[in-house]
Amino acid sequence: MDIFELIKTRRSVREFEQRPIPREVMETIVQAGIWAPSAMNGQPWRFVVVQDPMELKSIAHEARIELTNYLKTPEAEAEYGKENCERFMPRGESEDGILYSAPAIVFVIGTQEPDGHFDQGLAAENMMLCAHGLGVGSCPIGLAEPLNKSEKVKTLFDLKPNEKIVIALVFGYPAETPHSPERNFDVVKWIG
Ligand SMILES: Cc1cc2nc3c(=O)[nH]c(=O)nc-3n(C[C@H](O)[C@H](O)[C@H](O)COP(=O)(O)O)c2cc1C
Repeated sequence: MDIFELIKTRRSVREFEQRPIPREVMETIVQAGIWAPSAMNGQPWRFVVVQDPMELKSIAHEARIELTNYLKTPEAEAEYGKENCERFMPRGESEDGILYSAPAIVFVIGTQEPDGHFDQGLAAENMMLCAHGLGVGSCPIGLAEPLNKSEKVKTLFDLKPNEKIVIALVFGYPAETPHSPERNFDVVKWIG
């Protein structure tokens, strides 16, 4: 696929077939993340790839508990606003409301603090575009961030005190064709 077409047709996919993604396909996707640019080639990241069905279930459970707890805090209200906190709450109450029962998740871990997460964002987009090129759907999940508080996840991922899950990327073969959310094209100032 032409690169612009690939970029333009990538959509956030939230419904997945339950068939697993072959290991070599996931390896290619993660490699695409590793080849992302980073400031001073710092590569301030590591990636935790989860495909084990039992662990996926257990992480989804943790995500629900931690999100629900977080949404009740003043920090959450400051971050998302009261209305969004109320809007997100049902996600924490449903089995697949956060991680969409995806058959694979890549957790992008930031390994340097403080960090603006720009580099991890580039790695994430590389992975999602590569996946799209391979027929695999994906969605970035910012609502997985409260998982940083989960003791189970900290242990499972070997999270060190200076490390943090920056974003979770869910992957799977699409079971839906999402509509294309509108873009605002009036955001460019040309000089010359
Ligand atoms: C940093 C970030 C966090 C996001 N978090 C979530 C999320 O928690 N749940 C979700 O369903 N979508 C999430 N999204 C997906 C956006 O809703 C989606 O990218 C946006 O609506 C544009 O749609 P598109 O990706 O299909 O172009 C997130 C996207 C980004 C970039």
